[in-house]
Amino acid sequence: MSVILGIESSCDETSAAICIEGNIASNMIANQTVHEKFGGVVPELASRAHQQNIIPTVEQAIKQAGIQKATIEAVAFTRGPGLLGSLLVGTSFAKSFALALGIPLIEVNHMQAHILAHFIDDAKPDFPFLCLTVSGGHTQIVLVKDYFKMEVIGQTMDDAAGEAFDKTAKILGLPYPGGPLIDRYAQSGNPLAYSFPEPQIPGLNFSFSGLKTAILYFIKQKVAEQPHFVSENLSDICASVQHRIVSILLNKLRKAVLQTGVNSIAIAGGVSANSGLRNALLEFGEKNNKQVFIPRFEYCTDNAAMIAIAGYFKFLARDFVGQDIAPLARWSI
Ligand code: KG4
Ligand code: ZN
Repeated sequence: MSVILGIESSCDETSAAICIEGNIASNMIANQTVHEKFGGVVPELASRAHQQNIIPTVEQAIKQAGIQKATIEAVAFTRGPGLLGSLLVGTSFAKSFALALGIPLIEVNHMQAHILAHFIDDAKPDFPFLCLTVSGGHTQIVLVKDYFKMEVIGQTMDDAAGEAFDKTAKILGLPYPGGPLIDRYAQSGNPLAYSFPEPQIPGLNFSFSGLKTAILYFIKQKVAEQPHFVSENLSDICASVQHRIVSILLNKLRKAVLQTGVNSIAIAGGVSANSGLRNALLEFGEKNNKQVFIPRFEYCTDNAAMIAIAGYFKFLARDFVGQDIAPLARWSI
């Protein structure tokens, strides 16, 4: 039997999960609300919060799974990419835990883990499949050939899709992280109320910085004419911005399907929780007779279940690392 402890601490979520024989038995997440008032994650505060949260979170995960600490057979941890101070907390914890129990240590790439979250539930994609990986720091189209054989065939040249959501929210005066709030307001708005430009980037790459600037100038101009423009039209603004971000993502995904001939499509990462993106992908799948895979909400944003499942596949391959391992702030998949 394989019992894996997964640890995630790459950004502002401290998470621990237990995976037993490839099934997730617990997935505990401690959110950090300390960043809200700063309008973004403050790295130093994130590291401190991880330090406070990590032991209770791991204890809860073990308790919730109904296992004894001594039965854990390996520790999988996020080695990167992410904030170095945050990664250091999870990495140091994982190393000490593995050393104390005399069990192997498994490094996991956070972006690969977002994709491998599709192997937690029963509806597992067959290889190869395309995965649009959209988070606060990344926007990539990945050709997934096997569990750890992945090729990035398109990516953002500037901001990530999650940043486009969060920066728009900031312009609108909404608290961090703004993505989920834009999603909520968008549900009662008209997506065609305002038209924002679609960047003309060749190939499968993305760009979101021009869109952000266009939104900023649009809002500035409207507020100059009508001081309460944002509060009076918040739902329509959010729906229109979301509509554009989703159409940028979907158009590139459509192109990637044509270019590769791969008919199985998945989404992953925090932005895959977005209802507009989920609905658009479902519609795309139905219209074009493609198989689509959309993760459960709890496995979209950062979580340790995805680290534990990635760790499980590496455990089966006996792919371990030594105590000299160090975190990597940048680490391509
Ligand atoms: O994967 P994740 O939890 O952390 C990173 O690895 O970055 O992604 C966080 C990002 C944030 O930008 C957040 O605003 C966005 O995902 N996000 C959403 C939604 N839920 C989370 N964006 C749009 N709609 C949502 N429902
Ligand atoms: Zn993430």
